[in-house]
Amino acid sequence: MTTLHPFLAHRLIGTGTSVFSEMSALAAKHHAINLGQGFPDFPGPPWIKAAAEEAIAGDINQYAIAHGAPVLRQALAAHYSPRLGRDLDPNRDVVVTSGATEAIFASVLGLVNPGDEVVIFEPFYDSYVPSIDFAGGVPRYVPLRQPDADHAEWWYDAAELEAACGPRTKLILVNTPHNPTGKVFTRAELQHIAGLAQRWNTLVLSDEVYEYLTFDDAEHISIATLPGMWERTLTVSSAGKTFSLTGWKIGWVIAPPSLNAATRGTHQFIVFCSATPLQAGIAAALSLADDHGYYDQFRTEYSQRRDVLLAALADAGLPAFAPRGTYFALADIRHLPYIDDVAFCRALTVEAGVTAIPPTAFYSEGHRELGRHLARFAFCKRVETLEEAAHRLHRWASPTAQAAGKC
Ligand SMILES: Cc1ncc(COP(=O)(O)O)c(C=O)c1O
Repeated sequence: MTTLHPFLAHRLIGTGTSVFSEMSALAAKHHAINLGQGFPDFPGPPWIKAAAEEAIAGDINQYAIAHGAPVLRQALAAHYSPRLGRDLDPNRDVVVTSGATEAIFASVLGLVNPGDEVVIFEPFYDSYVPSIDFAGGVPRYVPLRQPDADHAEWWYDAAELEAACGPRTKLILVNTPHNPTGKVFTRAELQHIAGLAQRWNTLVLSDEVYEYLTFDDAEHISIATLPGMWERTLTVSSAGKTFSLTGWKIGWVIAPPSLNAATRGTHQFIVFCSATPLQAGIAAALSLADDHGYYDQFRTEYSQRRDVLLAALADAGLPAFAPRGTYFALADIRHLPYIDDVAFCRALTVEAGVTAIPPTAFYSEGHRELGRHLARFAFCKRVETLEEAAHRLHRWASPTAQAAGKC
């Protein structure tokens, strides 16, 4: 990177091009069905788009108040008050950001001093580490372990988490439901994390962008609702996943003013404010969703998509861990003759015309081994798209294709 781009600041060295860009380019080149990047191939609800169109037509087009248009902050406070079990103040407890990515970046930059440690679980969403690095913080990694004879779900070793926390820990970053494992943290796990946060007097940043995407009996719990945790938690979410409008990039932080001052302080100098008419659209989304029976339908449709993908993967000899939440499934590829996840994902794109993401990109150097035998498939796609992917995977996995030397 230094020879190719000699003018870049040191903080960008090693960040490279995201794995999403590389795999999406390969998918486009081979006309593959892209189950790599996590964005829907179906439109968001027309009644939400209409609300944003109305705002544009009604000239709600100038800068919003930096920490959020009042109409959206009011809608967020009304929406999250029952969910978080407290009477939220739209002016004090809510900050609107440009997606969850900016919410995380702005919060980390506003809270973490050089040398402060931030505990994160691996595999992690790819913006976490650069956000910590840019702030001069030090990531401390705790790997999630895959289900085994003793654990029905993805789990973490309590001793490993305890060893990662200490007097230098400023923040514990939690993501539930978790991308890419599909893990939904249990109450007992969140209580353990909360106990450590209290013991070491640290904060928690809880990334809950998949809060509405839970399946079967999985229950999404916000760590901010546990005793003593409101005061030390920044809850982050976004409209992108829940309303299938990932390109709008409207996100938020719900936290007491003592914490969200960090987000506000940096946010005002990163973007100043997020797109005003789209904030109006999301305010309408939150206010009208229940009347439209939106959340139940959303979950039902995603359960169906999940089942189609899991069946397709099983049929193609790619057994996957059934996710409890999110719109991702991790397939186990260790029995196949590929050197690693990257080789497999490239080959699958070229040979089958289906693209997945290699998860080693979501691990630190020291734990990369843990992702080498996995591939992440996204099911935020129309059922027809998933059925076409199923068809292609079936053909790819068939003995005739194997005899033709596809591997
Ligand atoms: C865990 C997680 N956090 C944050 C984000 C980013 O959300 P947004 O698009 O609102 O910035 C994503 C998007 O894929 C994600 O998977």
